[in-house]
Amino acid sequence: QVFFKPIHNTSPPSPTKRHTKISVVGTGNVGMAIAQTILTQDLADELALVDAKADKLHGEMLDLQHAAAFLPRTKILASTDYSVTVGSDLCIITAGARQIPGESRLNLLQRNVTLFEMIIPPLAKYSPDSILMIVSNPVDVLTYIAWKISGFPSNRVIGSGTNLDSSRFRFLIADHLDVTAQDVQANIVGEHGDSSVALWSSISVGGVPILSFLEKQEIAYEKETLENIHKAVVDSAYEVINLKGYTSWAIGYSAANLARSILRNQRKIHPVSVLAKGFYGIDGGDVFLSLPAQLGRGGVLGVTNVHLTEEEAQRLRDSAKTLLEVQSQLGI
Ligand code: NAI
Ligand code: LAC
Repeated sequence: QVFFKPIHNTSPPSPTKRHTKISVVGTGNVGMAIAQTILTQDLADELALVDAKADKLHGEMLDLQHAAAFLPRTKILASTDYSVTVGSDLCIITAGARQIPGESRLNLLQRNVTLFEMIIPPLAKYSPDSILMIVSNPVDVLTYIAWKISGFPSNRVIGSGTNLDSSRFRFLIADHLDVTAQDVQANIVGEHGDSSVALWSSISVGGVPILSFLEKQEIAYEKETLENIHKAVVDSAYEVINLKGYTSWAIGYSAANLARSILRNQRKIHPVSVLAKGFYGIDGGDVFLSLPAQLGRGGVLGVTNVHLTEEEAQRLRDSAKTLLEVQSQLGI
């Protein structure tokens, strides 16, 4: 008995949109924030969840499935076995230790490298053509580790990087100027962390370069205020972690923002962690850090040659040096 009686004999339309599958590894605070944003923004036909804690994982899957009546149809799977990720278009990795109050992201490195040595090989085996998006911290070094372990081309290994820092930056600038954050174009590049670099020279508000915007609005140009805003960005995570124990919502939206650009082939430019060797005089070794990169279905389509002042370029090279020194201790 066919439930829906066909109006007339029509063969189903050829699928215009390919089946899209996203896997999220790590269903803690961050992984679940990302999972629920993927569902509410209808970014995938299939969402696979992986974690080491079987009961928590199964509970999270059921809890999301129970929202089905309020969400676009998405098949939700979960398993501690990585075979559940087979055929993923995008694998988002959030598994790993997180900072305790006052701890830096780099402090997490050794614990999370050990984890990646277990997590990345099965992901690469089951989805050899997927794009890996690394979120776990320290995200830049772990993106380098994921690239080395997976053997994927560098355009298919991306760290969420300073896409989140740039959103915090745009929020604080918008708040200061009483405009909306989406009208503020402002990038932070370099390390997702304490040595990030604010690209002052390319900030614009509604298309107007920040310095002439301030002059037109007769807002005093206080270099110190802008530096304080960048410092507030660097301090953001520590502040939130001190207050609620972790950060999750902003990174959830940031990761979904990147997933949309990749899976919907938006060719949109985001500051994300990419293989930066050879850009802006960064040499001395393979290092991932955030640069404005064009994202699409093939992953990183290109890195923009945004203008940096000599000071900004030098700070970027210093950020790269910090990461290379950390990597050199890993012997990978
Ligand atoms: P959490 O502790 O809530 O979740 C981590 C999850 O990883 C847990 O569910 C745990 O069971 C799972 N896990 C541990 N070992 C595993 C394994 N071998 N296989 C699969 N799953 C495993 O931590 P939270 O708050 O979700 O943070 C996760 C990571 O994301 C941390 O490294 C944190 O620093 C990072 N993070 C990165 C941000 C960024 O902007 N790049 C922003 C916020 C957090
Ligand atoms: C953040 C840290 C946790 O920026 O990476 O939220």
